Amino acid sequence: MQQDMIVILDLGSKENTRVAREIRTLGVYTEIHPHDITAEQLSALPNVKGIILNGGVNRVVDGVEIDASDAVYGAGIPLMAVDHKARKADVSLEAWPEDEAERSMALKRFVFDDCHAIANWNMDNFIADQIELIRQQVGNKKVLLALSGGVDSSVVAALLIRAIGDQLTCVHVNHGLLRKGEPEQVVQVFRDELGANLIYVDAVDRFLNKLAGVADPEQKRKIIGAEFIRVFEEEARKLDGIEFLGQGTIYPDIVESGTKTAKMVKSHHNVGGLPEDLQFELVEPLKMLFKDEVRACGVALGLPDSMVYRQPFPGPGLGVRCLGAITRDRLEALREADAILRDEFDKAGLRGKVWQYFTVIPDFRSTGVRDNARCFEWPVILRAVNTVDAMTATVEQVQWPVLLKITDRILAEVKGVNRVLYDLSPKPVATIEWE
Ligand code: XMP
Repeated sequence: MQQDMIVILDLGSKENTRVAREIRTLGVYTEIHPHDITAEQLSALPNVKGIILNGGVNRVVDGVEIDASDAVYGAGIPLMAVDHKARKADVSLEAWPEDEAERSMALKRFVFDDCHAIANWNMDNFIADQIELIRQQVGNKKVLLALSGGVDSSVVAALLIRAIGDQLTCVHVNHGLLRKGEPEQVVQVFRDELGANLIYVDAVDRFLNKLAGVADPEQKRKIIGAEFIRVFEEEARKLDGIEFLGQGTIYPDIVESGTKTAKMVKSHHNVGGLPEDLQFELVEPLKMLFKDEVRACGVALGLPDSMVYRQPFPGPGLGVRCLGAITRDRLEALREADAILRDEFDKAGLRGKVWQYFTVIPDFRSTGVRDNARCFEWPVILRAVNTVDAMTATVEQVQWPVLLKITDRILAEVKGVNRVLYDLSPKPVATIEWE
């Protein structure tokens, strides 16, 4: 790693992530570590130019105030104490202002004036470093990657292709619950344009057969998750000599901010269900990136915007939006309606402005008239929400003409749908998804 680094020690702050992001915005790399980092761990970190002792509301644990070790105080690296009194009087400390703009200035002064850090954290340097690190880790061995087409797995795939080319094998499982055009885009971008070894698994029948008649949302999620692992495992077994598994773990997955120590939690468990004899060593080149940095990395690697700036999409996919027991006709209607919604949001300039928008199809029908005859068909529900962290959400006030245009198109183009509804419910009390 060539970049200068500022280390943030979590002394009970809830703002570790915010401080880390703010410094990265200044162009300087940061990592968050537990307060009790040892001298060995600290000296193993490359190019540490400064340390922030990030105290806060969780500073007192079991009646005892936690503090950094003597090794940190004695390391001879500039220290900045935030939001708490320092233990040692001889450490020169910046006051931590209340005002947000002043705090930013204080951080900036610390990073550049006190630590003399160089603003060399950028995606080109990051990619160059990661290519080097991936090659060191993997050598001439082979890597397997489950490529869903989501942002994280797509960026990992692009990075691994750059680093190790055909030592990488990607497996894309089409479970039939993806949005319109998604499996095709994965094949086009990764196989046709980037030349990846891509195994495309058409598991649509297999998933839909397993899900047939299952109405309970939790049961549906379980089936989709378990079946995914089974399909992936079967593909892995067909391949020889794979020793590594690529994963799109990102920084928010591994940092528990706001806990007393911000322990680094061991890797993400998307494939936790793989059997013992298929335990691979993980390659996780994005594990120090925040989501917006992952997107910037994807752009720098040449991935299309439609892949990099995708809105969030749940792992079980359309499965949790086709309510109750999934049937193929309703699933197709849902997929078509969702494509129309996305298309019209694009045309109305709402892509990238609204956090998440999608359609839902319930498992009941209502009466209508079509061609002068009574019809008994499905409704489609539109949902569009804004949120910062997905814990709470507000409903987007979509302009009436846009809603009417979407409604007209769905009623004219989607087979089996005679009614369109708009979900006005914020979270809470409603969740964003319906199941
Ligand atoms: P809820 O419905 O809980 O959703 O308000 C919050 C956010 O999480 C997404 N979501 C999921 N994402 N796997 C995922 O990766 C899932 O099983 C899942 N369920 C919900 C949802 O789309 C929303 O953005």
